[in-house]
Amino acid sequence: MDDTAGQANFDALMAADSRVEPRDWMPEAYRRTLVRQISQHAHSEIIGMQPEANWITRAPSLRRKAILMAKVQDEAGHGLYLYSAAETLGTPRDEMMEALIAGKARYSSIFNYPAVSWADMGAIGWLVDGAAICNQVPLCRASYGPYARAMVRICKEESFHQRQGFEILLELSRGSAVQKQMAQDAVNRWYAPSLMMFGPPDDDSPNSLQSMAWNIKRFSNDELRSRFVGMMVEQVEVLGLTLPDDQIRFNEETKKWEHGPLDWNEFKDVLAGHGPCNAQRLERRRSAHDDGAWVREAAAAYAAKQQAAVAA
Ligand code: 3HC
Repeated sequence: MDDTAGQANFDALMAADSRVEPRDWMPEAYRRTLVRQISQHAHSEIIGMQPEANWITRAPSLRRKAILMAKVQDEAGHGLYLYSAAETLGTPRDEMMEALIAGKARYSSIFNYPAVSWADMGAIGWLVDGAAICNQVPLCRASYGPYARAMVRICKEESFHQRQGFEILLELSRGSAVQKQMAQDAVNRWYAPSLMMFGPPDDDSPNSLQSMAWNIKRFSNDELRSRFVGMMVEQVEVLGLTLPDDQIRFNEETKKWEHGPLDWNEFKDVLAGHGPCNAQRLERRRSAHDDGAWVREAAAAYAAKQQAAVAA
């Protein structure tokens, strides 16, 4: 297909809210946007394993350890689905990984905050995975087929993650006064950073309009943030805890949930690499990558042997 016919075909797919598949012609900017968003998302899943993996050895029971291990393993799987989806756009996984360990790629701001108590495992599951679900369910309808299909499976697993976080907080909240306070402190720590996961306010979000025009993003950052606040307001009551924000209210005119101001300078600092854990997260990722070199070499040698056997 030449560029003119390709563009016409692409425009028709967009107008019909249909799916673009890897072999379809697509504008270079659409391809770049997808690689940017999908690779950032993949990196977030992989870096996101760290705060929770740190707690596997300290989980309070065998049951909690098993659940946490399964969850961390799921995040690795999500990273793999997403790297595979991005590879269908022509960018090799090695290249994306190089960018991450060189500190040139973005990953979610949220994973640059420390998880300081067991209750943080609950708050991460409930708030962070809750925000991820709110943001990612609409991505199951993203226009790029491999991304949308990967998101369906990811969202199912994220629902389990959110429930396990909710259950940790519920148990702590129904425990002793000290345990309840631990749960409340964790919610206080993770509330604002989880709201920032949705990205900058709409009037400061350079990519949103184009991504929405291409049916990649379905809703704006602020719209999703507002929906998330509404979900949390209901659930926090069941937990017997509170959200650290006395400005939350439902605006009857706009029919949207509103929240108190967020510190966008802090967000910018974290994105610039100056969050509390940026350096540690990247350092651990680098050493894990180096430690895993022998596995990659062995897998490549095995694949070469298999190919040689088929060719012989
Ligand atoms: N953390 C880090 N960077 C962020 C960010 C965040 N929370 N929010 C926005 N940014 C970056 C953007 O990537 C963009 O930078 P770039 O132009 O260099 O790529 C810049 O800030 C401006 O933001 P925009 O709103 O214009 O960017 P987008 O239109 O891409 O919207 C997004 C940002 C909402 C995060 C969107 O990319 C998205 O929905 N991504 C897919 C979901 C995702 O990546 N989630 C990661 C969450 S963690 C996770 O899923 C793991 C799970 O286990 C919890």
